[in-house]
Amino acid sequence: MVTRFLTIAAVFLQAALMARAGLTRRQSGTTVTVNLDQTYQTIDGFGCSEAFQRAVQMSKLTEDQQQHVLDLLFSTTNGAGMSILRNGIGSSPDMSSDHMVSIQPTNPGGPTSEPKYVWDGSDNKQLWVSQEAIKRGVKTIYANAWSAPGYMKTNGNDANGGTLCGVSGATCASGDWKQAFADYLVQYIKFYQEANVTITHVGFINEPELTTSYASMRFSGSQAAEFINVLGPTLEKANLSSVGINCCDAEGWNSQAGMLGQLNSADKYISTITAHSYTSSPGGPMNTRHRVWQTEAADLNGAWQGAWFSGGGPGEGMTWANNIYQAIVNANASGYLHWIGAQTGVTNSKLIRIDGNTVTPAKRLWAFGQWSRNVRPGAVRLGVQGAPSSLRTAAFRNVDGSIAVLFINSGGSAASVQVSVTGEGAFAATSADAFVTDNTRDFNATEVSVEGGVGSVSVPARAMLSVILKQEGGDTLV
Ligand SMILES: *[C@@H]1O[C@H](CO)[C@@H](O)[C@H](O)[C@H]1NC(C)=O
Ligand SMILES: *[C@@H]1O[C@H](CO)[C@@H](O)[C@H](O)[C@H]1NC(C)=O
Ligand SMILES: *[C@@H]1O[C@H](CO)[C@@H](O)[C@H](O)[C@H]1NC(C)=O
Ligand SMILES: *[C@@H]1O[C@H](CO)[C@@H](O)[C@H](O)[C@H]1NC(C)=O
Repeated sequence: MVTRFLTIAAVFLQAALMARAGLTRRQSGTTVTVNLDQTYQTIDGFGCSEAFQRAVQMSKLTEDQQQHVLDLLFSTTNGAGMSILRNGIGSSPDMSSDHMVSIQPTNPGGPTSEPKYVWDGSDNKQLWVSQEAIKRGVKTIYANAWSAPGYMKTNGNDANGGTLCGVSGATCASGDWKQAFADYLVQYIKFYQEANVTITHVGFINEPELTTSYASMRFSGSQAAEFINVLGPTLEKANLSSVGINCCDAEGWNSQAGMLGQLNSADKYISTITAHSYTSSPGGPMNTRHRVWQTEAADLNGAWQGAWFSGGGPGEGMTWANNIYQAIVNANASGYLHWIGAQTGVTNSKLIRIDGNTVTPAKRLWAFGQWSRNVRPGAVRLGVQGAPSSLRTAAFRNVDGSIAVLFINSGGSAASVQVSVTGEGAFAATSADAFVTDNTRDFNATEVSVEGGVGSVSVPARAMLSVILKQEGGDTLV
């Protein structure tokens, strides 16, 4: 009660002071109301990957530039504040080109032979990136195998498709490798654990409907379910049941949706449904009780585009702000990951380009920053009423009680809005922050006024702007 009175007193005092100083502002613009009674999915976060030796490329920068690029990706004060890192669990016997090295590069002799695990303390520098991400606040690490090692597969190679020996329809002279592959994944998690990195999610396939010249392994949904029914108990026996099983990183949203029925027999072991955006992007909610993440999207081959907006092309920042909106608001996703964070080369497949010792972020990075820095893990998406139709609007309640309201203005004129909160537990904001991203600004603080618990801002043309409503003292007023 004391805080309640103090907060009320503070509001009156502020109003009185503003009136005395002649500062009372006329509020104008459309009223946008965030409704705490209308709750949707919980958000796990936003992220990227440094798999396929992209982490090695980062490690070749000078130490200053390494810290700079890590800050750009993961810092919540001067970067995009990414909250999920996706690592590749290696399956290759070597490290040539961009191969991800296996923790058991040679066949131990058969599926029931004593394993011959090796740990080089680097994992193609992914361990280092993980540790640096954790230092900057990342808590969600998704370790994902593209394939099992070749000797566990029907084609004897970790590349070029093939299937895990022992799942239905895949019999091999060498025997059934399901348990050995589950043990392998558990051992990978333990190596990280010994280096103080907690892997929170594990996946065992990537784009299982695709055969490619790099690490790849074919699986149907029912083969995936069969393997999950081995992996689940194996994690439990190793006291790792807190590690969530993700499945199946299909090439597209629709193809993943099509696999869901076949996963039913392993439902109790599944944590998160994961899908990529290549053959189809997130169009609508998946029919599942599980959280859903979009785990890989990129403009893979487009020529480097650093701008926020120039004509609506696939590499532009605002395009990505909208892609994320589509997944989170229209398709009920709880996580959204870009393919690569930082990498060399001249395409848009990454958010940050490394060229020699130069590090250049595209505005795509700041599109992720708008979502990731303002919508923190554990946030719950909320309903919003009254937003002008020229804006795309999304609202969230963060775990710290703050309300984040994100606006994307793809149109050519600015829009003034007043943001208020209603519903059970609603509060009259006493302060607010606002951040804007556009062609000239990355993630810059911008003016927001708070009066009578309502935040007022102008959303510039072709910009993304977020308002974070806060209440000092943390008590509710309404
Ligand atoms: C892990 O943490 C423990 C306890 O803080 C520390 O003693 C150990 O050196 C750390 N290990 C690594 C590989 O960083
Ligand atoms: C799992 O945890 C239990 C209880 O903490 C302990 O008794 C057991 O030895 C652990 N098992 C493994 C494989 O670490
Ligand atoms: C959205 O996802 C959650 C799980 O995160 C699920 O419980 C809910 O039913 C989904 N909503 C819709 C409309 O599919
Ligand atoms: C945005 O903020 C950065 C510092 O974070 C500053 O250097 C830059 O000038 C600002 N841009 C604009 C357009 O205000």
